[in-house]
Amino acid sequence: MSILNAVKLGVKALAGVIFDDTDTFTDVPSGVAYAQIVPLTDKEFSGFQKLIYEWAGIYMNATKKALVSGRLMKRLRHYNFSTFTQYFDLVKDGKNADEKQIMINLLTTNETYFFREPKHFDYLREKIKLRKQGETFRVWSAAASSGQEAYSVAMLLAEEMGFSGWEIIGSDISEHTLRIALGATYPIEQSAQIPEEYLKNYCLKGVNASEGKFCIRPEILRNVNFMRVNLNEEMPKNLGLFDVIFLRNVMIYFDRQTRQHVVERLAKFLKPMGNLVIGHAESLHGITDKLKALKPTIYAVRTDTESR
Ligand SMILES: C[S@@+](CC[C@H](N)C(=O)[O-])C[C@H]1O[C@@H](n2cnc3c(N)ncnc32)[C@H](O)[C@@H]1O
Repeated sequence: MSILNAVKLGVKALAGVIFDDTDTFTDVPSGVAYAQIVPLTDKEFSGFQKLIYEWAGIYMNATKKALVSGRLMKRLRHYNFSTFTQYFDLVKDGKNADEKQIMINLLTTNETYFFREPKHFDYLREKIKLRKQGETFRVWSAAASSGQEAYSVAMLLAEEMGFSGWEIIGSDISEHTLRIALGATYPIEQSAQIPEEYLKNYCLKGVNASEGKFCIRPEILRNVNFMRVNLNEEMPKNLGLFDVIFLRNVMIYFDRQTRQHVVERLAKFLKPMGNLVIGHAESLHGITDKLKALKPTIYAVRTDTESR
């Protein structure tokens, strides 16, 4: 018996599913939907790998093949395509801007939560005390995902400074996550990540149709703006300078060269006493001489006279 047949029989025995000679299901359990499995060839994977690197700077090695095929499969179904090559041909020149954005949305990993890596918030609390009077305290959440990082910072700033004198910009390449960020409404389970005092002061619990959700108070939203920024491209003009830039848990998706370019670009947006904050799994070791480490994962602008 061939291995394939043995596998088929095993599956048949387990699931009560019968295969015919052409490997298609002839009898599926009622109420269960099945779709054709479309294999992603190595050549097709390498095409998508190049595109997402070119567009977003995201480097996906071969271990990401299943992820790419799983996430892009939705688009094959949407267009009724039977191969990944058909989808690749649709997006490859980047001229179909909507589909390009959808592919970026699908291939980015957006995991985030409120008050992630609490030491950074302790640092921020200390830094606010040293702020220049009369100057707006500005923070940029540069890979903001669905907004939890920006709103965590906002709640902390509101607690320390009230509702004025500060401003936050959240940006991301994924328009899907930015829409969630702008909505400022989250499943109630996520409220457990927020310190009780902040929850009470800066969040509202959904009732009736909004049962099971909570949202961020309008007074906070006034000082938080979101925009689409691709860190792998020229930065928008007129962003101004920031006291703190959060660049957390995004560089893990970049290769060394992209990290270097992104950090050099962002460093230009720091005030002279500004800080760049990265994720705990990340490092700037050997990446730039424009910044110096203050503490693990927190960097400051190096002055011209400081030795490298
Ligand atoms: C894992 S999330 C990190 C969210 C948040 N900073 C945190 O630490 O919880 C990474 C985010 O980086 C974004 N991203 C990936 N490549 C990007 C790029 N080239 N430009 C801007 N954002 C990017 C993704 O869309 C995703 O939302």
